[in-house]
This record gives sequence, C-alpha cells and structure tokens, in this order.
Amino acid sequence: MVIGEAPGRVETEQKRPFVGRAGSYFVGILTDVLERKRESIYITNVVKIWPRIQTPRGRTRPPTKREEEFFLPLLREEIGIVRPRVIIAVGRTAFNALVPGKEFSPGVWVEGHGGYSIMPVYHPAYILRRQRSMKELEDGLVRAIEEVRRRLDHAAKGC
Ligand code: URA
Repeated sequence: MVIGEAPGRVETEQKRPFVGRAGSYFVGILTDVLERKRESIYITNVVKIWPRIQTPRGRTRPPTKREEEFFLPLLREEIGIVRPRVIIAVGRTAFNALVPGKEFSPGVWVEGHGGYSIMPVYHPAYILRRQRSMKELEDGLVRAIEEVRRRLDHAAKGC
C-alpha cells in the first residue's frame, strides 16, 4: 500500500492518485523496482481533496492539520480493508498520519500498530525540486523500495 499526501490538479482532473508529474515519477520508480503493475498496488492519499489556493487555475498548498484530521478515519478504514503488510509513506504528512510525532527518517523501517511495517520516503515533488541532490535522493528512494521488495519477497516465501 502506498499513502501520499493529497491529490494535485492532474489527480483531481483524472480522479486518480499519483498521476501528475511527481506522482507518475514516483509510480514509475515503484513499479520498476518492485516489478509489479500499478494495479496490483493500492495507492491512496491522506487528504482526499486537492488543497488549493483559490486563484483562477488553483495553486497547490500544503494540507492543513484540520484537513488531515478530517480524512484520517477514512484512511484508517482503507488500511483496515486492504490489510497491507507494508505501507510506503510518501512524505512527512503520510508518515505522521500513521505514527504521529515520530521522527521522519526516509529509508528507515518503522513498525506500525496494525500488523504492517512502514517505509517512509521523501515526497517525489521534493525530490524533483532538489535539482542538485536529485540523483542522490532518487538513489535513496530506489534503495528504500528495494527494501520493500525484499520484505515482500520474504513474506511471500513464508520466511
Ligand atoms: N500525487 C498524489 O496523488 N499524492 C502525492 O502525495 C503525490 C503525488
């Protein structure tokens, strides 16, 4: 299961998470490293609406705490239905929705309270913005997803 922060403009237009520039960049790496199809991975966001500033085209802003809290019961329900073994928490908002107050440390496993492990990773929009350190951050993302793959492979073998 993948949990992101919130949909953006493209996600809102297409009514699908992770299909905009940052989202597809992330999903491309995810499906390459896991060697799985997008459809086999449950992808969602903490906040289900596009947090935007009211300009003619709308401009993305970070979600507020109130918005995050409003959607939390829905996220918990999704997790309860999907019952994932692993959750990739994309960005700090997703991570702290799962483990409030815990330090966000990308690439480092955290055990969740519902029988799943959490792998926090940097938000792809952040990676794409860091032109000079982008390669390094992308390598870190790949390593984190490789970790996820190892864990899922082990679980599938019943280890
Ligand atoms: N696309 C989404 O839907 N959510 C994110 O967090 C990032 C990109």
